[in-house]
Amino acid sequence: MRGLPRPPQRGQAREWLGQGASIGAQHPPAAAAFRPLIELQHLERNPQALLDGRRPPNPVRFQYTLLRGRLRVARAWQRHRPTASATTAVLPAPRPAGADHGPHAPQGLLPPAPHPGGAVPPTLSGRQLPQHVAIIMDGNGRWAEAQGQLRSAGHHAGQHALRDVIYGAPEIGLPCLSVYAFSTENRARPAAEVETVLHVVSNGLDMNTEELWQRDVQLRWSGSSNDGRLPADLVDRIRRAARATRERTGLILNVCLNYGGRHELTHAARALARQAAHGGLDPDRITPRHLARHLYQPDLPDVDLLIRTSGEQRTSNFRPWQSTYAEYLFLDPLWPDIDRTHLWAAISTYATRDRRFGTTK
Ligand code: IPE
Ligand code: IPE
Ligand code: MG
Repeated sequence: MRGLPRPPQRGQAREWLGQGASIGAQHPPAAAAFRPLIELQHLERNPQALLDGRRPPNPVRFQYTLLRGRLRVARAWQRHRPTASATTAVLPAPRPAGADHGPHAPQGLLPPAPHPGGAVPPTLSGRQLPQHVAIIMDGNGRWAEAQGQLRSAGHHAGQHALRDVIYGAPEIGLPCLSVYAFSTENRARPAAEVETVLHVVSNGLDMNTEELWQRDVQLRWSGSSNDGRLPADLVDRIRRAARATRERTGLILNVCLNYGGRHELTHAARALARQAAHGGLDPDRITPRHLARHLYQPDLPDVDLLIRTSGEQRTSNFRPWQSTYAEYLFLDPLWPDIDRTHLWAAISTYATRDRRFGTTK
């Protein structure tokens, strides 16, 4: 049937089916898709339990459940591309560091714009490269104040720095970059500043004027989408940009907007509680994998390297779950003074770190 999982997903599907009650804790679209199949299994094995013992199972009922299930499966797999499980996510192997990306850019897309000063990335092997770098882009306000300008000028300058860093990511072979653009706590700033920050983000998403959209970048969004704190047109714009770029493979750019780590964990806890309340999940069988599947963008790998600019040494509610074993790097420059060479230097430092994950050699 069109829309059913492709062959590599079928083995996983069978495994999920075998897990019975815990199916509700799988990645949401997959759970939606497979729940009717489990109903069918129950119908076959234990019809009385499913039908409350009142109605005997009959072929019409069976066919109805089958048809409804097929429709749901087809719809779910059409809407959501299959992804790896949250804890085993592995992104495509990064391209060789320092490679000329011209020929690699898919048709119709441009390679990253070269560094204005002609800088080229260091050559690192695939094993030395992180899969996922997350950046707390801090210091816009102080940068503007130091120049005798309004804070809003700092946010605009920060957007230019971000663009350069985005170009530098695929150049060195980094497959995934998360950037902290606006936190749930930032909502408490003066309304005019909040408006400026959101305006800057919105401009960056403008596919007609923003040259970034001509590059091989896949946009993702992590953050609260249903708390009414973002303008509806911005939410719409982010979703459209994510849809428009979802087939791109050069770089996954995960924009953390209206994002708070505690909100993210609360959101996941709510989803699990809902499943437990409906009997689809045994609370005693909840594992970290179950929770991870309800975080924002659950198919992205954990953060390997977390960078914060502006000299502050704190995480300010950023990606607490995904950064449990991240390497941290705190840089002194303010965000608008950053460019791709800082990203490359940070990745080179990361390559020298000895990651042990709690074990011994
Ligand atoms: C980071 O820069 C951008 C956002 C938080 C939106 P800041 O605005 O926090 O700049 P500083 O830290 O006040 O200098
Ligand atoms: C963190 O920076 C949020 C973003 C960079 C978007 P803040 O400037 O808001 O963090 P604090 O207030 O210094 O901890
Ligand atoms: Mg700050």
